[in-house]
Amino acid sequence: MATTDQNRVGVLFVCLGNICRSPIAEAILIHRLRERGLIDQFDVDSCGTGQWHVGERPDPRAIQVGKKNGVDVSSIARQLDPNSDFDRFKWIVAMDKENLRHLINAGAPRGHVHLMCSFDPAHKGKPTEAPDVPDPYYSEGDGFKKVFELLDAACEGMLEKLGAGPVSEVEQ
Ligand code: 4NP
Repeated sequence: MATTDQNRVGVLFVCLGNICRSPIAEAILIHRLRERGLIDQFDVDSCGTGQWHVGERPDPRAIQVGKKNGVDVSSIARQLDPNSDFDRFKWIVAMDKENLRHLINAGAPRGHVHLMCSFDPAHKGKPTEAPDVPDPYYSEGDGFKKVFELLDAACEGMLEKLGAGPVSEVEQ
């Protein structure tokens, strides 16, 4: 049976431009939820706090790193809409502290806002002190590869938190 929007768990990934980090995170989480047969229970999206790239496809390097890992990175960039996003999404996941501050200043409920790397199982400190996902836009070399690996690890941690753990657990 199809699930209505209100019944789904809303997850919104937020970065600055919505063409590099947050669309990759969105694509990875959707991919993993599909693998687990749980996608219908979730409403996953991404946005940027800035407006420069609204309407654009992801950065070609983001599409490419997704392809290399079998993940379809294809969402169209949009800007954060505080009027609807803070109702629709109860998990609002910022890629770095600058975007987290922007979300809080825009009125996001503090308890709904998280730093992406706080979900990385490798992060052992306080959630509020998790490192930023580095902005790969101006990076050269393997910047996007490193960002993909970081986002993939954090998504695995998120899936555990969301009660959508490893495929083997779900299949039992
Ligand atoms: P993102 O990367 O926030 O991960 O999408 C950026 C993309 C574009 C710009 C900055 C960061 N920009 O300044 O245009």
